[in-house]
Amino acid sequence: MRGMLSPSLMCADVLNLEHELTLLDDLGVDYIHLDFMDNRFVPNITLDTGLIKASKKVLKNMKRDIHIMAFEPERYFDRMDIGKGDIVSVHYEACENLDEVLGEIRRRGASPFLAISPDTKPEVITDWFEKIDGVLVMTVYPGFAGQPIVEGSFEKLSAVRRLIDESGKELLLEVDGHVSWDLCKRMRECGADIFVAGSSSLYQAGLDLSEAVERMNDLVK
Ligand code: DX5
Ligand code: ZN
Repeated sequence: MRGMLSPSLMCADVLNLEHELTLLDDLGVDYIHLDFMDNRFVPNITLDTGLIKASKKVLKNMKRDIHIMAFEPERYFDRMDIGKGDIVSVHYEACENLDEVLGEIRRRGASPFLAISPDTKPEVITDWFEKIDGVLVMTVYPGFAGQPIVEGSFEKLSAVRRLIDESGKELLLEVDGHVSWDLCKRMRECGADIFVAGSSSLYQAGLDLSEAVERMNDLVK
């Protein structure tokens, strides 16, 4: 399978979000990464549920890749209008009732992904393979764009890929955090399928977005 991009909307021009969404959609980008934070699980707030819901109205082919960094993520599913075609990542560290939360995402016709923070061991994911369509590996601490990559992230991506492959399941591996021009190729070699592209790549000042998308597609193909 080819590598796919998921540009991070929190890193885009916040005064022109409709334009940014439409542009990416017209370029044929697969996913748009939408970060939701509750200021409790992580000490920050970014895109709100109303905006995440409204994004549906302008998307034609691009799918929503919703990353919920919050305790009790199920509280927000209605307000985000989660449904068919969406990827929804919830954090292993944030859910007391992970079984029910993943089941509810599936029940709504969306794809459940399990997100793991940098300090969480890769092995925890194996108990959930029957319930998910993918794993999101955070290679920075969740909450903020523009951080350096956490040490050991390449080894962790490779370990997650190995666990997935050994299970015989066809789960997607998404990498989120410091997916830079320099590192994205190596992340691909470690087995990542979906690349969250933020301030370390697509959203650097002065870049033409369509040229940047083309260049990145080529690096992770
Ligand atoms: C958090 C976000 C950030 C960010 C990625 O979940 O997804 O990781 O947008 O962009 P970078 O790390 O390149 O600034
Ligand atoms: Zn994210």
